Amino acid sequence: MVSQAFSILFILLSAIAASDAAGSVGINYGRVANNLPSPDKVVQLLKSQGVTKVKIFDTNPAVLSAFANSGIIVVVCLPNEQLATAAGNQSFADNWVQANIAKYYPATKIEAIAIGNEIIGAGINDEMKVVVPAMKAIQASLVKSSLGSNIKVSSPIAMSCLGNSYPSSAGSFKPELVDAAIRPMLDFLKQTGSYLMVNVYPFFAYKDNSKLISLDYALFKENPGVVDSGNGVKYNSLFEAQLDAVFAALSALQYDDMKVAVTETGWPSAGDEAETGASLANAAAYNGNLVRRVLTGKGTPLRPNDPLNVYIFSLFNENQKPGPTSERNFGLFYPDMQRVYNIPLSQQDLNGNLPPPMKSDSQSPPANNGTGGVSKTTVGQTWCLANPNVDQHELQAALDYACGDGGADCGPIQSNGACFSPNTLVAHASYAFNSYYQKKARVSGSCVFNGASYVSTQPPSFGNCQYSTGY
Ligand SMILES: *[C@@H]1O[C@H](CO)[C@@H](O)[C@H](O)[C@H]1NC(C)=O
Ligand SMILES: *[C@@H]1O[C@H](CO)[C@@H](O)[C@H](O)[C@H]1NC(C)=O
Repeated sequence: MVSQAFSILFILLSAIAASDAAGSVGINYGRVANNLPSPDKVVQLLKSQGVTKVKIFDTNPAVLSAFANSGIIVVVCLPNEQLATAAGNQSFADNWVQANIAKYYPATKIEAIAIGNEIIGAGINDEMKVVVPAMKAIQASLVKSSLGSNIKVSSPIAMSCLGNSYPSSAGSFKPELVDAAIRPMLDFLKQTGSYLMVNVYPFFAYKDNSKLISLDYALFKENPGVVDSGNGVKYNSLFEAQLDAVFAALSALQYDDMKVAVTETGWPSAGDEAETGASLANAAAYNGNLVRRVLTGKGTPLRPNDPLNVYIFSLFNENQKPGPTSERNFGLFYPDMQRVYNIPLSQQDLNGNLPPPMKSDSQSPPANNGTGGVSKTTVGQTWCLANPNVDQHELQAALDYACGDGGADCGPIQSNGACFSPNTLVAHASYAFNSYYQKKARVSGSCVFNGASYVSTQPPSFGNCQYSTGY
């Protein structure tokens, strides 16, 4: 009996260690939109996708209630505008913890409280000075509620906290921030057994330096790598290089063992003209490769044994976010809960069980005329073809996606292939879209490609090319 109990315990512990070692992928559930599904539906969506962790930007009661007993771990946020009050008024902090945390815990598995978002990093300002006092006030309130050891308190910093991030080994915090905010925060995190939260966006680095930074490097694709001149370490992704700059900055302050969670990272599926790199194909590549990378369980070169712990930004496209177009297009899902693009989000996805791709019929632009709606006609044969009227860049991006993460058979449109001629973007994209569409057995939404395609009841006639009709 005893030995059996021990072996069960051992198996359990091994399982915990294994899941820990795999790294973890969570998602930021932002809600700056007027068209999102109810929180209950969102919980169902996340469960159906195998997502086990979310981060929200407030403590919305409907959201926290919806996550009760879901098993999903939640990181909540004390919004920026409440930091000064919490810092200066312990009874406010106590009341806030009672009403927003203790009321929901433990049914809602609140794991951590982010105190504001990206306040430290924007330079020396008054707001920055209240971050650590607010963290201490909230921690004191948690302790009073006997939650001090269950729930961590931290505060996400921006990469702009770093004065130097290249090469990674020379990473350091801005000197003017160190004593004013960084060191007090790290001391607090260490004392409370918490961890540093950092938001890491290779997209922004790439967008501003696209002539210097290779896109493949930014997207975790195959690339020659970048060697750190300080220590000779070769980086194959910008994300890892950025994260290691943070680790180097921590080591420079003697916080070598401070744990770090990447509380935001992501890539937009659309953007303005000036937003170099924002595209559906790139977003699918970045986020898909990020998940694959995290789930290998490997750490970064400077912290090889620390599995990555990341939260993708964001769950939905948020139509009321201000700023450039990309800001409203970071979502993995449209508000109707269809995927913007098809990537793995969990270990079960990686094992080959991908959910349906792309976005829904209801959201497709009315570009497809005379077809009776995208893939709603299941009678008779249909083909998925490129829309000749869309912007060339969008068509190219959709083609790249179909041939890349989409898994379309693009051999025949290579220069020696049977469908290379005619050598036009529309012909090649049509071939690739149709291959993808037929492979997906014409799943609803598999012929959308962000509006770059339409369903046809007639096969195209391009040269001698035979178009698959699938099923
Ligand atoms: C402190 O917060 C409590 C609870 O929110 C409030 O009743 C009180 O007026 C606040 N005190 C000050 C000085 O603002
Ligand atoms: C588009 O659809 C409308 C309505 O079914 C039809 O009247 C029109 O002729 C179609 N246009 C083309 C180019 O097929």
